[in-house]
Order: sequence, then C-alpha cells, then structure tokens
Amino acid sequence: MKARIGVLLSGRGSNFEALATAIDRGEVPAEIVLVLSDRPAAPGLERARQRGIEARAILPESDRAEHDSRLVRALSAARVDWVCLAGYMRLLGSGFVRAYPERILNIHPSLLPAFPGLHAQHQALEYGVRVAGCTVHLVDEGLDSGPIVLQESVPVEPDDDEASLAARILEREHVAYPAALQLLLTRPWTIEGRRVVVG
Ligand code: GRF
Repeated sequence: MKARIGVLLSGRGSNFEALATAIDRGEVPAEIVLVLSDRPAAPGLERARQRGIEARAILPESDRAEHDSRLVRALSAARVDWVCLAGYMRLLGSGFVRAYPERILNIHPSLLPAFPGLHAQHQALEYGVRVAGCTVHLVDEGLDSGPIVLQESVPVEPDDDEASLAARILEREHVAYPAALQLLLTRPWTIEGRRVVVG
C-alpha cells in the first residue's frame, strides 16, 4: 500500500520535487497528497500545484501550539501517514511531533550533529571542515536532533563559498531524501537508543 505523504516547505521546494520525481518513477511506494507552507509565496507551493497536488499556506501564528494544531488538522483531514519537512523553516512543537510519532522526516544540509540550525553550509565553511554533507533524520522535539536515517558526504573544496558548497550538498540531498523515505517505507526498522536499525 502506498504511504500518504504530507510535505511542509517554506521555499523553492527542490527537495519536494526530488521526492515527487522519485515517487513518479515508482522508486518510492508513496503518494504526496498535500503540501503546506508557512509562506504563501513559497515557489514550492506552485511546483506542487503544477503537479496537481493540493498545496496551500497556513500562516504562522504567534501561538505555536495553535499553529501546530492547524497543521495537524489539515494533515489528518488529508489522511497523511508520513510528514516530510523539505526546507520548512519553523521549529515544530511537541503537539505536532506527538501527532506523528516516528513518522516525520527532515533533511538538513550538514553532517549532523555538526552545524544544526540555520546557515549550516556557512557554519561548515567558517569551521573549516574538509568534508560536508546532508542528513535525513526522524524529527523529535529538538532542533535537527532526531535519529539519523541516512547521510551523504561531499568534499569541501578550497575555493568554495557558501553558494558552491550548498549546490554540491543539494545534489546529494536530492538523492538522499528519496532513498531514506524508500528505506523506511520498504524495510522493517526499529529505533534502538539513537540508532535507526534497519532489518
Ligand atoms: C535544503 O538545503 C534543506 O536541506 C534545508 O533547506 C533547504 C531547502 O531547499 N532544510 P529546497 O526548498 O528543498 O530547495
């Protein structure tokens, strides 16, 4: 059976597009049924509509719990099984995380636990690391802190700036995110401590 996926995004939506493309190719047994954004002008919403996927903005509110419950209501009305965060720039509260236990994925442009939060590629360059990458992880109530499903690394070149490093990482993100979703949907897995153990 196909998993029903809800995607949350705030921006251009290239990771949404990578997921949708892999699903269309039959690589991931899933269907994206709803795309939500905190920003009405997010290009990712338009990308979704062009694919015939329902897409709309739910504007942020000062009360995070209220915002979370509006998101959960929309997702559960669409009978979503899994939530994929794809460049969603707001931290989700405990009400949201508890509504989808071990069923929320995020992609982050660093090799976690290094460089969580904003501007991860800039943080990596500032630190002087020689290897960077991306991480797909299950979402808990912390910032980029849930159990890791999959990571991909890329070299940092001497002449990299934030844009060139981000572009190199993004290419790997587009491979890693569908691969991680496919893994979790098609293989038995459990969480032991912090580890995602795939059977
Ligand atoms: C990606 O770098 C992702 O890792 C981070 O936000 C960015 C979103 O890019 N969480 P896009 O909107 O998917 O193109």
